[in-house]
Amino acid sequence: MARILTGIQATGVPHLGNLLGSIVPAVQLAHDPANDSFLFIADFHSMTTIRDGAEIRENAYQVAAAWLAAGLNPEKTVFYRQSDVPEVTQLTWFLSCFMPYSRLQLAHSFKDKSEQVEMVNTGLFTYPVLMAADILLYDSDIVPVGKDQKQHLEFTRDMAEAVNRAYGAETLVVPDARIDNRTMLVPGTDGQKMSKSKGNTIVVFQPDNALKKQVMAIVTDSTPLEEPKNPDTCNVFKLYELVATPEETATMRANYLGGNYGYGHAKSALLEVLKRKFASEREKFAYYTENRAELDRILAAGADKARQVASKVLARVRHRAGFH
Ligand code: TRP
Repeated sequence: MARILTGIQATGVPHLGNLLGSIVPAVQLAHDPANDSFLFIADFHSMTTIRDGAEIRENAYQVAAAWLAAGLNPEKTVFYRQSDVPEVTQLTWFLSCFMPYSRLQLAHSFKDKSEQVEMVNTGLFTYPVLMAADILLYDSDIVPVGKDQKQHLEFTRDMAEAVNRAYGAETLVVPDARIDNRTMLVPGTDGQKMSKSKGNTIVVFQPDNALKKQVMAIVTDSTPLEEPKNPDTCNVFKLYELVATPEETATMRANYLGGNYGYGHAKSALLEVLKRKFASEREKFAYYTENRAELDRILAAGADKARQVASKVLARVRHRAGFH
């Protein structure tokens, strides 16, 4: 049985791109009975950029609600908040003593921001060490991540190997990355890749009005209503294709090509399909956000299970490092 672990950035309510591109496939992977899976919300990592405690807490709740709404089963997956397992910060210290400073300087996550080096806090600089601790604290075998995280996984392996050279081969499990290369292209309302920082998201977890507003704001060209339209260059159609059935998609294609079908019609059809397809997810998300006590209970149970593993691994490292 392989232990699969991955961390989720806590940047607020996940959008359609997060949902289709990462949450849905990760939930499927987590439910594969061949795996023992750990999934956590990386709320300590958020501190590198967010200073407002209420915002950090709220973001974690929203992310937790979204994953549970998308079908994550907390009985099958150890689901927890990073900050609820404080052992991780201690392992971060141990690992940092094995990570050459010069190598950490090569981290993309740091280099991307190093033109404004005066703005970079040490937490951002050591982000990859905390990430390595997230992984190594649970004896993880496999870490599914996007390709932007490849270097972080290489660092993690290097740290684990360095620790094992010093303290014995069995001190830490050296994990393998599972890089997901099929980046599902979910266009945002402006046609660029959907991303929170671009302000082009569609968030299905919002109430009807807010969702409608985002769908109606999708950028289209100015082809008049009567004229035929090209589905393959239209943002509305591209999104529709990702969520509608093949029959619905074929019908919309015919409508585009036939003329007398406006972008307003297409947007309304998209809105309906989003509401239908994600009806249960939206309902559950609303339930969890209104029932914080339930979220607290689920996350506390996850943290308990996580700590049982974490305390053993940390004890192993401490012992070998001479701290009894
Ligand atoms: N850095 C990851 C990201 O930006 C999130 C993350 C934090 C993570 N800790 C992790 C991913 C541990 C996998 C394993 O997406």
